[in-house]
Amino acid sequence: MKGSGNLRERKAGRAERIIRTAALCAACLLMTSCQGVHKEEEKTSIRIGVSLYRGDDTFINNIRSIIEEKAKEYERESGIKVTLDIQEAKGSQNTQNNQVDRFISLGCDVLCINPVDRMDTSLIIDKAMTAGVPVVFFNRQPVEEDMNRWDKLYYVGVDAKETAVLQGEMVVDLYRKQPEAVDLNGDGVVSYVMLEGETSHQDSLIRTEWSVQTLKDARVPIEKITGGIANWERSQASALMEQWLTEYPDTIELVISNNDDMALGAIDALERAQAEDVNVIGIDGTTPGLEALEDGRLLGTVSANKETYCSAILELAASCALEEELPEEYPLTDGTYFWTPQEILITKIKENP
Ligand code: GAL
Repeated sequence: MKGSGNLRERKAGRAERIIRTAALCAACLLMTSCQGVHKEEEKTSIRIGVSLYRGDDTFINNIRSIIEEKAKEYERESGIKVTLDIQEAKGSQNTQNNQVDRFISLGCDVLCINPVDRMDTSLIIDKAMTAGVPVVFFNRQPVEEDMNRWDKLYYVGVDAKETAVLQGEMVVDLYRKQPEAVDLNGDGVVSYVMLEGETSHQDSLIRTEWSVQTLKDARVPIEKITGGIANWERSQASALMEQWLTEYPDTIELVISNNDDMALGAIDALERAQAEDVNVIGIDGTTPGLEALEDGRLLGTVSANKETYCSAILELAASCALEEELPEEYPLTDGTYFWTPQEILITKIKENP
């Protein structure tokens, strides 16, 4: 499906169609009321079923609030009533599959799914295909084989390699401008630890690999002290960091974290150990992440444009629900994937004379 102009134009087009349809129906009624001719009515309301892999994930919670705002905005601008039914799957794929059944039985026009297990979306896809209900997946990317099963499956997310390269570049740039701000003990090597997200998540693997590769490619001298999996969670990261600070006292100069929440966990441990000089970088630009950036506790983060991210989810979903052409403001790669733009946000860069 191809796009068809911006939101305002599409809405104007829709209003015009409603008038034309009304006129046509009146004419039909007058002329052929006995012949049983029906013209499908334009929808004036849509129902969207949203399932989140967990409700206590900071980034996903940020996304949830913005999707809610975007739904209200869409409703105001289009005059189409949007009912959002948002459920949390609490980390259980089974629970999420049941939520999908319920959404379908409630007559949802489209589903927005943040899969619990991105490798196991086939049941959701089976159910959606059988019911003819399109799905916009987001944040946890289903495997390609599943995405290729139907042309009414979409994905909104960020390009994980791009995120990681930006995260690496942030340090490369700082190192080039102020090596002493990164190589804190001046021994010519930047000693780092790595905090990783869930092992099965596409973002963890790719972010871990490419942030480091970017530093290596730019010939920043680095040495890995250690690393560990903290599953995106602040408390797990804090515990790991505490342990590393004891095992490797006065050694760690940089914490590379796959997300902001784990970065904040590392900062918690650094503050307890009064080792706040250590640089910490994250990814996401979550609300608490941005606060930490603001007050200088977090060196930097890579942030997707969340307004665009959530508008893409909502507008794609609404177009599917209304059976309209897809919005061309959100161009889809291979007709399926929308990659949200991202940017580096960094603090602590002192102007070099
Ligand atoms: C990542 C994000 C993490 C976490 C995860 C959940 O993209 O960086 O903070 O929200 O998604 O799937």
